[in-house]
Parts: sequence; C-alpha cells; structure tokens
Amino acid sequence: MEPETYSLIKRSAKSLLDINLDHYKDVQMRRRLDSWLVRSGAVSWTEYLKRVRADAEERARFRDYLTINVSAFFRDPERWRDLRERVLPGLLKAAPRLRVWSAGCSIGPEPYSLAILLDELTPGRRHTLLATDLDRGALARARARGPFTADDVENVSAAQRAQYFQPGGPPFFVGEALPRRIEFREHNLVAGESEDGFDLIVCRNVVIYFTEAAKAALYRKFHAALKPGGVLFVGGTEIIPRALENGFRSYGISFYRKA
Ligand SMILES: C[S@@+](CC[C@H](N)C(=O)[O-])C[C@H]1O[C@@H](n2cnc3c(N)ncnc32)[C@H](O)[C@@H]1O
Repeated sequence: MEPETYSLIKRSAKSLLDINLDHYKDVQMRRRLDSWLVRSGAVSWTEYLKRVRADAEERARFRDYLTINVSAFFRDPERWRDLRERVLPGLLKAAPRLRVWSAGCSIGPEPYSLAILLDELTPGRRHTLLATDLDRGALARARARGPFTADDVENVSAAQRAQYFQPGGPPFFVGEALPRRIEFREHNLVAGESEDGFDLIVCRNVVIYFTEAAKAALYRKFHAALKPGGVLFVGGTEIIPRALENGFRSYGISFYRKA
C-alpha cells in the first residue's frame, strides 16, 4: 500500500469513524486493510471510502473490522480460574464491594464473565462493574445480552448456563439478572479520560495492535485508575515492560498489582 493511500485511510478513519490509526501498529493494520479491500469488492480505496462515506451500514462494518471484536466467556480459562480462586478472594478481603472495569469489553462476554464470578463468590452482593469499548455496534450487542454462539459460551459450565442464561440456544442470551449490574459505556482508551478508584481492571486482547507508545500511555492511565493494591488483568501474551518502574508488581501470570 502506498504511503499516501495509508494517510488517506487514516484521515478518513479519524473523521468518519473517530478512530486514530496512529495508535495501531502500521504493518499489521496495513495487512488488515489490504485484505478488507479485497473482501469489499471495491477496486480502490478511493472507491471504498466513497462507499463508507455514503452508507452508515458500511461505516459500521468497517469500524467493527478495524477494532476486531472477537471475544468469549472465560476466554483463557486457566487465567479466569486464577482470578476466581486467588485474585478475587484477595481483593474481596480488602473491600467487600468491588469496583471493576472491563476495558475493551467488545460484545460483552468479559464483563458478563466477571459478573458471574462475583455473583458466585458473593451471591446477591452489589459490586460496580463498568464495561467500555470504542465500538458502538459491539456495545449494542453487549447491552442486548447477546446473541452468543456455542463457541462464545464454550467455557461456561452447565450450572452457570442454567443460572445466568436464558433457556434454549444456540444462539445464547444472558438472562435478566446480570445486565442490571453492568454499566456499558462508549470510551476510547487512547483518547478519553478515565475514572479512578478501581479494585480490578481487565484489559485483555485489546492492545495487541497498539504501538509501544500507546501501550505505555495506557498502562500509566490504568495505574492511576487503580486503588493501591488494585489488580490489572491482561491478555495471555501481554506483558508490561519494566512493570516495576511503572509502579506495578507482577502478581502471577497475566496479573499485575499496583505497588
Ligand atoms: C479482541 S476484542 C477483546 C475483547 C475482550 N477484552 C476479550 O478479551 O475477549 C478487542 C476490543 O478492543 C476494542 N478496542 C480497540 N481499540 C480500542 C480503543 N482505542 N479504545 C477502546 N476499545 C478499543 C475493540 O473495539 C474490540 O471490541
């Protein structure tokens, strides 16, 4: 892809979708864009961007593609087991009501998984759960509690499915009890201000395409948003470079604790 073409796409993504591609790694993003153009059937980016400008549905599809919404309940089950058996009990000892943020929550499985675990560990107790994403389409699906595929719910136990999901499926929908406990909100992690006072921040599989600078800025933001002793839960392949210098201590695989 010519540099001018990439610049044009970046300008259009900013003005039409409010996405700043400067925060995403060039090589991967260009590769994704190339394959998207082929799939779209358009002969050039000029033609495709004209379509995006004119058609709100195409705009939504392009936005979904750029932000990559893949998610699943209890994705990476071993880490979620550790969250349930070690991390959450530790946090609950310090504060009976937790303030939790699922940052980059996509279509919702992550905050719903958190809500399920908290309900199992502290039945009926009210915790504060914030779930944010840049992508309005994904948030709409999260708020609608589904639909979720059989793959999405693969790691949900039969007992959890019976208690927290609507009967039937696939497709699966989360039942009425959980959503009232989650506030879904649109928020751009590389631009927006964030709240603070969190006991736990979960940000998994979101920063993989971010530049090193964007990642470092985000981890600083998370550090400021956590209470002392608060925990950050990251994705399986994600590490915080020089964690200690950034005010975090490693707290088991995929977990960091604010020092
Ligand atoms: C692959 S999904 C991960 C979902 C979930 N955290 C998980 O691990 O299953 C990545 C999500 O990050 C969101 N995202 C990407 N860049 C973002 C940004 N700058 N601000 C907020 N969300 C962003 C995307 O919209 C997408 O829903």
